[in-house]
Amino acid sequence: MPEGTSASTPLEESTTDSTWAVLVAAGAGERLGIDRPKAFAALRGRPLLAESLDRLDRCPWVDAIVVAAPPGWEEPAILLSEELAAGKVVSCVTGGTTRAESVRNALADVGDEALVVLVHDAARPLLSDDVVERVLAPLAEGYDGVVPALSVPDTLKRVEGDRVLETVSRDGLVSVQTPQGFLASALRRAFAGDLTDPTDCASLVEQGGGRVVVVEGDPRLLKVTTPADLALVESLLTTPG
Ligand code: CTP
Ligand code: MG
Repeated sequence: MPEGTSASTPLEESTTDSTWAVLVAAGAGERLGIDRPKAFAALRGRPLLAESLDRLDRCPWVDAIVVAAPPGWEEPAILLSEELAAGKVVSCVTGGTTRAESVRNALADVGDEALVVLVHDAARPLLSDDVVERVLAPLAEGYDGVVPALSVPDTLKRVEGDRVLETVSRDGLVSVQTPQGFLASALRRAFAGDLTDPTDCASLVEQGGGRVVVVEGDPRLLKVTTPADLALVESLLTTPG
């Protein structure tokens, strides 16, 4: 090794169990409108949650997983991880009334040894190792948070009811996805404070002065919100990515 070059960054020095994933699956899924929480909607014959859980468990960059389950659905979530033989799942916590509360509940079970925490929506089943790798890279360079993002293809307008107020420039606007990655210390700090209506985890880290960057997202990482989204994800699952 050349003189003056350090052997590795602090993150690369980490041994096992340093990258934890928080998988938030505790939402009611009101807009999907089925008889059970969205995480347990059927996707190609298994619960929606199974897809992202399986992918995180197989992801070589992820060491341990904490799942936030809907109240009353902790047992089915544990049984599902056993059925999948998802050995990285260390705990399943009860989610809160907001997504941020679910993240906070899960974060409480993330081990002290964690250097990095990925937070992922179970509602985005088509997770790939590539996007995880892209999200993790800037954390080794000293950033506090990383968000996968896509450019906004459509023209944007601000409306009031059905009346158009103005056309909004797309310049500098992106839409963001999960998994979002954070230095564990930065995420814990962000969640130690007030959780009033943050739209995502990164916004809390940003508010606390953390340095957050975007990386290229993945169009396949779309979020299941409505029945049409579920049908679309189902069809994408059969299409090689
Ligand atoms: N989530 C959560 N706890 C909550 C609310 C949401 O863990 N109290 C999770 C959802 O399970 C989902 C992700 O956050 O994986 C994104 O939320 P969203 O798509 O809004 O899901 P729901 O809140 O379940 O859906 P809806 O808003 O239609 O009720
Ligand atoms: Mg919601």
